[in-house]
Amino acid sequence: MPRPREEWKTYDDIFSRSTINSLIKLAQRHVFSHIIGKISMGKEAVVLSATSELYGLVAIKVYMINTCNFRRMYEYLSQDNRYLKLPKNRQKIIYNWAEREYKNLEIAYRSNARVPMPIVVLNNIIVMEFIGDRNKGIPAQLLKNIRLEGRARQVYEEIIENYKKIYNQGLVHGDLSEFNILLHEGKPIMIDFSQGTVEKSLNYLDLLKRDLEKISNYFSKYIDIDLEETARRIGVWDIVKNL
Ligand SMILES: Nc1ncnc2c1ncn2[C@@H]1O[C@H](COP(=O)(O)OP(=O)(O)OP(=O)(O)O)[C@@H](O)[C@H]1O
Ligand SMILES: [Mg+2]
Repeated sequence: MPRPREEWKTYDDIFSRSTINSLIKLAQRHVFSHIIGKISMGKEAVVLSATSELYGLVAIKVYMINTCNFRRMYEYLSQDNRYLKLPKNRQKIIYNWAEREYKNLEIAYRSNARVPMPIVVLNNIIVMEFIGDRNKGIPAQLLKNIRLEGRARQVYEEIIENYKKIYNQGLVHGDLSEFNILLHEGKPIMIDFSQGTVEKSLNYLDLLKRDLEKISNYFSKYIDIDLEETARRIGVWDIVKNL
């Protein structure tokens, strides 16, 4: 059963009134039933885990209206081909930001890449599949916290396969690194598509190059890999070498 309004009092310190109202709406729609706890608390977003009758466990990413750098969001959004007309209002920019991340996640999910299943976006809140041990409620670890050693080659290959899938659907991740890849049951899962963008956007190719550079640099600690090799595997070396 969704919580009555008073039960949300404990969240008053972290969330604004409008955010709590949106969370209540989602609970009323049975998207989730009870919040279990915080998975992560960043500068701009808090990620919660919650139970759900429909989906088992879910992850809820909440953008903090008061602490988001909405000017940076505006800059990024305004380069996106899908957001040519943007509101100037702080709250609306953040809603657009969350909506764009959700749309990116949908494209990635439909491409068959390993990413959390998108469930719903409402205002500044994204609900998606929880990645991790669903029985114990323990979230999967980030790649940055794992020593890959002998597994590095295989994990690299899988990331390339996944990236190829999203790229073939005209999407780039935009912030691909060991900070935005979870390792679950030995498989890499890309998360955090907040900076992702689509073909025809002004920064599409720059972000493509940045993604491939970052992932190549990370894996070059373990295996003999560089930007050229990574870009060739995705089939974009001819584009990337001239950037
Ligand atoms: N679906 C999920 N399942 C389990 N854990 C998740 C999920 N999504 C995010 N997390 C956890 O929450 C952390 C923060 O998520 P995410 O990277 O999306 O946001 P962020 O980096 O704080 O925000 P920003 O969008 O501003 O970059 C991740 O590093 C990961 O540990
Ligand atoms: Mg992140």
